[in-house]
Amino acid sequence: MPVSSTVHEVPRYIGRYEIERHEAEGGMGDVFVARDPRVKRRVAVKLLKKLYSTDPAVRRRFEAEAEAVAALEHEAIVPVYDFGEHEGMLYIVMRYVSGGTMRDRIKAQGRMSLRDVAAVTDRVAEALLAAHERGLIHRDIKPANILYDDREIPYLSDFGVAKASEAIDETGTMMLGTPQYLSPEQAQGHDIDGRSDVYSLGVVAYHALTGAPPFEARNAMAMAMAHVMTPAPKIRERVPELPKVADGVFDRVLAKDPADRYPTATRFARDLKDIASGRWYLVKLSSKLGLGDTRPPPSAPRRVPPPKAAAGPDDSGTLPYAQRDTESTLQEPVIRPGRARRAKVEED
Ligand SMILES: Nc1ncnc2c1ncn2[C@@H]1O[C@H](COP(=O)(O)OP(=O)(O)OP(=O)(O)O)[C@@H](O)[C@H]1O
Ligand SMILES: [Mg+2]
Repeated sequence: MPVSSTVHEVPRYIGRYEIERHEAEGGMGDVFVARDPRVKRRVAVKLLKKLYSTDPAVRRRFEAEAEAVAALEHEAIVPVYDFGEHEGMLYIVMRYVSGGTMRDRIKAQGRMSLRDVAAVTDRVAEALLAAHERGLIHRDIKPANILYDDREIPYLSDFGVAKASEAIDETGTMMLGTPQYLSPEQAQGHDIDGRSDVYSLGVVAYHALTGAPPFEARNAMAMAMAHVMTPAPKIRERVPELPKVADGVFDRVLAKDPADRYPTATRFARDLKDIASGRWYLVKLSSKLGLGDTRPPPSAPRRVPPPKAAAGPDDSGTLPYAQRDTESTLQEPVIRPGRARRAKVEED
């Protein structure tokens, strides 16, 4: 675990930023609320611990990542405005997001509603899609890195920060962050791609829906092993009122092998949204009637007609598109979500 370096004295300035207060201590350093006198706006300044600041390899990665993230400019990602060095420590200046984190919400509510979880997953998935298309992997998707603004709109934060700390891992000095949301491939130190973030987003959604992450373990190593070896308990064992299809969706997003997982976060988000709205029932029905997946793909207009194989009946309780990614030219049906949802829950 990182060595604690809680600030005993709040600095008056970090770079040109006037510090107003200490907000929180995170895994890699302290977060301050500050004011940027140049553009007269409130910002959040994260001051990384010395541990992360002295290694030149960390600095180089940090700067490269900060630039890449700044170039992303996605509306669901907390923007990084600036970075620099304060008394030998690296700092990152980002938008101040005032409404607390998803971790706070799970703590306060015990669990979050399916509708809220589907909404936040959908937004984070859009951010991940944009990043993954540019080869950027977040690596530390967790409820503490999802921040809400004062209108309850969620944003993904700390893009690239985990990557900066990886140079430290390579020296064997420390293990990365909390292992609760680590993908199996991360836990094993394998090369990763965007599907690692897809898994972590699945763990976040599972945690939010059930009130607990899928695995409990005494230490980081045991937790990492669980991600690699132990199948996650079926989500309906913990939340029986969810429809049967939810088990298939979470089996797929939490698959140990990335090849068995949803290829993109948006596909997972779409399935979750369909469960929340009740639209899954219609999708299943149209599959049984031989119509295939009647919805457009999550982020591109579809042009390819559905392959025959996609039209078979679905005995697994899994949405047809949770098993295979099919395309269709049919229009998305319009339904009344509340009604369809009730019908589905009763049936299952
Ligand atoms: N941009 C921001 N605006 C407002 N508050 C923030 C911002 N970034 C972080 N915080 C607050 O600071 C806390 C600590 O954040 P920090 O990112 O340092 O730690 P963490 O997310 O718990 O762990 P990690 O270091 O792995 O990201 C957050 O839980 C949040 O309350
Ligand atoms: Mg964070």
